[in-house]
Amino acid sequence: MVLGIETSCDETAAAVIKNGTEIVSNVVASQIESHKRFGGVVPEIASRHHVEQMTIVLEEALNQAGITYSELDAIAVTEGPGLVGALLIGVNAAKAVAFAHNIPLVGVHHIAGHIYANRLTAEMKFPALSLVVSGGHTELVLLEEHGSFKVIGETRDDAAGEAYDKVARTLNLPYPGGPHIDRLAHEGSPVIPLPRAWLEGSYDFSFSGLKSAVINTLHNAEQRGEKINPADLAASFQESVIDVLVSKTVKAAQEYNVKQVLLAGGVAANKGLRNALTEAFASMPERELIIPPLYLCTDNAAMIGAAGSVLFEQGKRSNLALNGNPGLDLQQM
Ligand code: KG4
Ligand code: ZN
Repeated sequence: MVLGIETSCDETAAAVIKNGTEIVSNVVASQIESHKRFGGVVPEIASRHHVEQMTIVLEEALNQAGITYSELDAIAVTEGPGLVGALLIGVNAAKAVAFAHNIPLVGVHHIAGHIYANRLTAEMKFPALSLVVSGGHTELVLLEEHGSFKVIGETRDDAAGEAYDKVARTLNLPYPGGPHIDRLAHEGSPVIPLPRAWLEGSYDFSFSGLKSAVINTLHNAEQRGEKINPADLAASFQESVIDVLVSKTVKAAQEYNVKQVLLAGGVAANKGLRNALTEAFASMPERELIIPPLYLCTDNAAMIGAAGSVLFEQGKRSNLALNGNPGLDLQQM
């Protein structure tokens, strides 16, 4: 029984995971309503909400699981990356519980958590390739075995989710903009030509040029007194993002001859991306595509418990000097 704790951004979350694969309880307190009026996450407000919610969420996770702290084998907590003030709340809660009840503590990388949301969905097979697309990260990660993460490509500027949120803001859509663009995209057609940064010869990504192109398209139309259909712009933007993400994932999956492709991160909730990946891998039965349900794609603690279970079994332990680390490296875990 592993207790997972996650507070890296704007969700205060706790979950209990059994045997690394079974969700016994899963509690998420979202702060989105508090940050919406600022158009993004305000770090100081996030920290304060985590302080208010942390003990309530922890108690609820144990209550739902019907267990007490003494029945836990380990506590897994997001150590980084994320907002430092936010991370500190989860890390200190985890340390307090670990110390008070003498339970082993395991620090977990947030992205390892997103990837391990897949283990709550299906049995993992190696080598596996994970496409990680979140608000802060866009990466292709190769897993040769449990707990081993090799980043073979990453964004050189904006993360995919960040580009979604910025484009959404330009279109006057509420924060977080990803789901709104996704919905709008399905109401329009991809008729507006937008660039794709292929970065040939590498598995890296770049989305800032695309983001600027969307903003310029809108501004130029405004200056000419023309009106652009926001649904068409959303559809064109989404097509450009998905085109690059899917092409690079397919290429890497073939080059590394992986048995599984694991979708991970908040942008994994994107319907267009889910459909395009499903279509692309439909003709490759030798590479199984796993897509976690929506509630495991956005930030949660079940995924941290799942990743923590594996690290715990592999003997990883953190001590009470554990600190929030905004720059934590996935490959140094
Ligand atoms: O993984 P996550 O919950 O937090 C981070 O670790 O960053 O990801 C949040 C990101 C936000 O940028 C949000 O706009 C995006 O995921 N997102 C989506 C969708 N749902 C959430 N982006 C595109 N389409 C969606 N349906
Ligand atoms: Zn996340």
